[in-house]
Amino acid sequence: MFILGINAYHADSSAAIFKDGQMIAATEEERFRRVKHWAGFPSMAVEFCLREAGISLSQLDHIAIGRDPKAKMDKKLMFLLKNPGGGWSAVLDRVKNSRKVSSLEEEFIKIDPSVSKQDIKQKIHQVEHHRSHLASAFFASPFEEAALLSIDGSGDFSTTMIGIGRGNQIEVLDSVDFPHSVGIFYTAFTQLLGFPHYGDEYKVMGLAPYGEAKYVDKLKEVLEFTSDGLFKLNMKYFRSAKSGIVSYGDNHIPKVAPLFSEHMSEKFGAARKKEEPLTQYHKDMAASVQRITEELVFHILTVLQKRTGLQNVCIAGGVAQNSVANGKITRNTPFSNVYIPSAGHDAGISMGAAMYVYNHVLKQPRAKPIWSAYTGSRFTNEEIEKYLKSRNIEYTRYNDDELYNKVSEQLINSGVVGWFNGRAEFGPRALGARSIIADPRRTDAKDLLNAKIKRRESFRPFAPSILKEYVHEYFEVNDEVPFMEKVFPIKKEKHSVIPAVTHADGTGRLQTVDKNVTPRYYNLIDVFRQKTGVPVLLNTSFNENEPIVNSPEDALECFLRTNMDMLVLENCVVERKKA
Ligand SMILES: [Fe+2]
Repeated sequence: MFILGINAYHADSSAAIFKDGQMIAATEEERFRRVKHWAGFPSMAVEFCLREAGISLSQLDHIAIGRDPKAKMDKKLMFLLKNPGGGWSAVLDRVKNSRKVSSLEEEFIKIDPSVSKQDIKQKIHQVEHHRSHLASAFFASPFEEAALLSIDGSGDFSTTMIGIGRGNQIEVLDSVDFPHSVGIFYTAFTQLLGFPHYGDEYKVMGLAPYGEAKYVDKLKEVLEFTSDGLFKLNMKYFRSAKSGIVSYGDNHIPKVAPLFSEHMSEKFGAARKKEEPLTQYHKDMAASVQRITEELVFHILTVLQKRTGLQNVCIAGGVAQNSVANGKITRNTPFSNVYIPSAGHDAGISMGAAMYVYNHVLKQPRAKPIWSAYTGSRFTNEEIEKYLKSRNIEYTRYNDDELYNKVSEQLINSGVVGWFNGRAEFGPRALGARSIIADPRRTDAKDLLNAKIKRRESFRPFAPSILKEYVHEYFEVNDEVPFMEKVFPIKKEKHSVIPAVTHADGTGRLQTVDKNVTPRYYNLIDVFRQKTGVPVLLNTSFNENEPIVNSPEDALECFLRTNMDMLVLENCVVERKKA
C-alpha cells in the first residue's frame, strides 16, 4: 500500500511517501526550489517521492494532506462574530487557503495528466494540522503508549493540542484556539528584538545565554499560565489579527506580519532596527522570553503527565524546534523519555498526515520507530563524476579509508570542509549528509567559519556531532539525540576541549551519531577521534543564506561562492587550490 503525505500552501511545504507503513522518502520542497521555507504546492517533492518509490501517481492508494479547512468551523465563525472587520481577513485568509486545497486535484494532474481528477479526489484525506503533528511524533516514536503535545504558531485555527497515543490510535484531550499561541508570543518578541523574518526565532534562543532572565514576571502579564495546564495571551499586547499571521505572496515565501501592538512597544521598548546594536537589555529580554517559554512547556507537560500518568512524551510543532527547552524536559517535568521527529516543524506535516491515515484511519499496525532523517535526494559517485567532468572541475576519487584520512587531515589543519554524503536530511538540521564540518577544538573556529562561509551573527552557536558511545564523557545528560533536537550542558572539564561547539552558557546542541544509522559520517568522526582523541566534529548546515544544498550542483555552487577549503561529494574530493 502506497500513501503520499503532503504539506501544501503552508510554510515548509513538503512530501513524504510510505510503502506498507514504512517511510521510504521525504523531503522539503525548498531543497529543489532553492527558496527558503517555500510554501506553495510541493510538486517537485511529490515527483521525487514517486521516483523513489518507483511508482506513478495512479499507483498511489491514498493521498493525505495535513490541513482540514472544516476543522473548528464553529470556533472560526464565533471569532468572526466577536471580531467584526478586524478578524475577518484572518479567517478569510484561511478560507482562501481552503479554496486552494480544493484545487489540489488540478495540481496533481499537472504532474501526471493521464490521471483523472476524480481518481485523485477519491484518494484524498484531509488531516487536521495538529493531528498531523501529533501523528508525526507518536507513530514515528518507539513508544507503544505516550502523552502527546503539538505546539506552534497556528494551524487549522488551533495553536496547541494535547493527547494520548496508544498503539495505532491517537486520542485528542484538549486544544488551545487561535489567537492564543505561544508561537505568536515568541515570534512577536523575536520581531521586537529586531529579527523580522519567518523562522528567525532560533536567533532569540541563541542570544538568550548572553542575558539574564530579569523580565519573566513582567512577561507573565503577557503570557498567562492557566490552571488547566494550558495558557492564554493578554491580547492587549498583540496586534489584532487583521490580515492573518503568515501570508504567502506569489513567490511562495512566507512573510510574518508584525505581531506586537503599540502597547507592547510602550511596555517593552520600541522594536530594534536591523542596524541598531544589540544591547544588554535586548539580551536580557531574549533570556526572559526563552525562560518563560521553557516554563510554559514544563507547565503544560507537568499537567499532561499527571493527567495521563505516562512516562513517555512525543512533541512536534514549531515550538518543538526550541532545542534548549526540549533538552530540559526530563529534568523539569515527570516525563522520563521524549521523542521529537527530525522534521518537528511544519515540513513534518506531510509525514504525520500520511501516518495518521495509515495507522489511525486505516488501523494498520505501527512500523519500526524512525531514528534516521536521511530520506532525501541521493547521488552516486558515477553521477557526481559525470557532473564534475561536465563542469571541468578537477577532482580525485578516493576509497573510503583514504577519504576519511584525507578529510580528517584537512580538518586538523584548520580546514573547513563541505561534506555531502548519502541521502539528504528531512528537517531543518544538517546531520552529516549535507554538512559543513570543522575541528571543534579550535578557539577561532567560529571566526574561521564566519570569515570563510557564513557571515552570520556572532552570538549564534555552532553544534557538535558526537559519536554516540562518548556522550556520557562530554555531556551532563546521556541520551540519544539523533536530530539535534535537544541542547544539553557540556561537562565543565570539556569546555576547553571543544570550545568551538560550547555555547556561552556551557551547552551544546548535540547530534549523537549512530554507526547503524549513518556509518560513513560515523567512520569519519571515528578517524578524527583516533588522530586527536576527540570524538566530536563541528557540524553546521551546508548552505550560505539559502536552503541546505540538495544536489552536487548546489554543493559545488556553494563551494565556489565561498572560501571553503575542500568539497567532498561522496568519494570525490575537490580542493580549493585546484578549483
Ligand atoms: Fe504547525
